[in-house]
Amino acid sequence: MFVLHIALQGCLRGDDVVYGLTADTGGHIRYLLDLVAASAQDRDVTRIVVATRRFTGPLGAAYAVPEERLSDKATLVRLASASPGYRVKEEMHAEVACFADNLVAWIAAQDCAPDLIHAHYADAATVAALVEDRLGIPFVFTAHSLGQVKAMMLGASPVRPDLARRIATEEDALARAHLVIASSRDEAEVQYAGYDTYDPGRVRVLPPGSDLARFAAARPHPRVDAAIDRFLHDPAKPTILALARPVARKNLAALVRAYGESAALRARANLVIVAGTREDIDALDGDMAETMRDLLVLIDRYDLYGRVAYPKTHRPEDVPAIYAYARDRGGVFVNPALNEPFGLTLLEASAAGLPLVATDSGGPNDIVETCGNGLLVDPRAPGAIAAACLRILGDPALYARCVAGGARAAATYDWDRHAARYHGLLRDLLAPRPVAPPTRQLLVCDIDNTLIGCEAALGIFRRWRSRQAGLAFGVATGRSFHSAMAVLEQQESPRPQVMITSVGSEIYHLDGNGVTYTVDLAWRQTISAGWDRAGVHDALCGLDGLVPQGPLEQRALKLSYFGDAAVARRVRDLLDEAGLPARVIHSHGRYLDVLPAAASKGTAVDHVRALYALPEHAVFVAGDSGNDIEMLRVRTQAIIVANYSDDLASNAALQHSYVARRTHARGIIEGVSHFRRMLAHVG
Ligand code: GLC
Ligand code: MG
Repeated sequence: MFVLHIALQGCLRGDDVVYGLTADTGGHIRYLLDLVAASAQDRDVTRIVVATRRFTGPLGAAYAVPEERLSDKATLVRLASASPGYRVKEEMHAEVACFADNLVAWIAAQDCAPDLIHAHYADAATVAALVEDRLGIPFVFTAHSLGQVKAMMLGASPVRPDLARRIATEEDALARAHLVIASSRDEAEVQYAGYDTYDPGRVRVLPPGSDLARFAAARPHPRVDAAIDRFLHDPAKPTILALARPVARKNLAALVRAYGESAALRARANLVIVAGTREDIDALDGDMAETMRDLLVLIDRYDLYGRVAYPKTHRPEDVPAIYAYARDRGGVFVNPALNEPFGLTLLEASAAGLPLVATDSGGPNDIVETCGNGLLVDPRAPGAIAAACLRILGDPALYARCVAGGARAAATYDWDRHAARYHGLLRDLLAPRPVAPPTRQLLVCDIDNTLIGCEAALGIFRRWRSRQAGLAFGVATGRSFHSAMAVLEQQESPRPQVMITSVGSEIYHLDGNGVTYTVDLAWRQTISAGWDRAGVHDALCGLDGLVPQGPLEQRALKLSYFGDAAVARRVRDLLDEAGLPARVIHSHGRYLDVLPAAASKGTAVDHVRALYALPEHAVFVAGDSGNDIEMLRVRTQAIIVANYSDDLASNAALQHSYVARRTHARGIIEGVSHFRRMLAHVG
């Protein structure tokens, strides 16, 4: 496989990249070079070329060199475009057409054309689309950061003209790319979702790698210890640590409030806020001066002297020692940002051995879910931040579990792992698809605690599944599409032909390329009728004992909360009284989903069965918990795996089900075999 990357922005070179040399010489270059290095390790990858702009001028002679070797297989190729000098990203659009011409000519001069192009940033995607039009080479796209998100943060309306242009270019990139690679669920489900051409089934979340070795080996340093200790009466107490630039988005004030308002937390721990370095607060840039002043006012208001440290300066190489300081005092790392796109500091702190309390908005969701290394909180609720810190500090078993999760972080956010999944997707995308045998039967499984939960069982299932010609395989889950996809890929589950997600409120069908998915718009339309999301939301707002789940779990057609069975009954009554049609689904004694009345895993399976034109007896379903009841109830061939919860086996509506003797995916196979034997008897 020959992969051609296109990256036009910034001052790109193979080594000694000067990050920050220009505003566009940023993280995406690091990402790209790390990706290329990992990608080159794969035997299937024969050649990698990174194509960038050639320019001359005061930034350095290196950027005018036509070719630079990156490694045995990888080369950086600099091609000319319309203007000879450096171009900032706001002007890059003027270079695109000419660069594309030169790239097409370059490709024509090679012995062998690239199999696939990977565009970084939307201007590169415009180039890739032009190349595809001429040469038919498909392209994948990574946005790295999005104009809409930036426009939202700037808050100005109308949107600045350069941003409006960028957003339009991103729309085209999303419309054209064969596959879009995102770093987090937040990016895949929230940030991209604002675009008209957003097509969730073509977006895949592949977390980037990170270099955590430095943090895993973090040791304390006397200089760092002294810089913190001088603030504190009792420096031996556990440390609540935050490390972030003092900008409003990082929301450090909420942490000071959490600490200032919780006597229990004040008694238990010190607060250490490492908020950049400063000579003079008044000389800080942007909103940093104001943010620092706010922090100082709060520290004074709550009279936190002797309990809060906010060192004035630190060196970049001190960061591991800062984590070590908190770790050696049995502390906790807190990231209270209003939104955190990815959350690299969380990975670093976790690798250094600290439990996390992290914002539930953005990338931290994925990190905490995958690694089990902390707790998520609503960053706007100081009380929740304090409670989470106290919970971790007060529960040694939980503390130990979070620390152990740190090792998982290093293993998960690893470039080799990223490259392996990335190549898998590219290979499948390029591979010719064999003609699938006609579908004669359909098996739909819940994911958590049914299909997955036991690795050995899933391995057996994988082999079993590969022998089932004619059996279409689908999943039905409470998770969102990207959350489900991420866990299925992590566990190397077979790729489902159909994905029923968000408790049946969304359906996705595998495309002919065997990689991407298409949203079932007919289903969306069917269930949307009569759904008053805002009405339901308002009616349930503030109900005692009903706690909203994180922002990523709230979907257009699904509102999700935590609450017990009694609360679930009250929710049903309230919605009835308000005349708001909805379906309320309670599972695991604590999850509470509110969906359009016509939506459930059960009705969704019916929709799929009709699409596949299968008779009732050709469909098997398998599940383990309350959110599977609707699906198990209406199917004659329903399987309950042995590790069920929510009293499924004694549920009166499920007496027709087969309760497997085996757990997880073994139970699924056992159930299918059982029903096939029965069918053979009848037949
Ligand atoms: C998954 C979803 C959650 C839902 C639960 C039960 O965990 O992420 O939102 O409440 O399933 O359906
Ligand atoms: Mg389940």
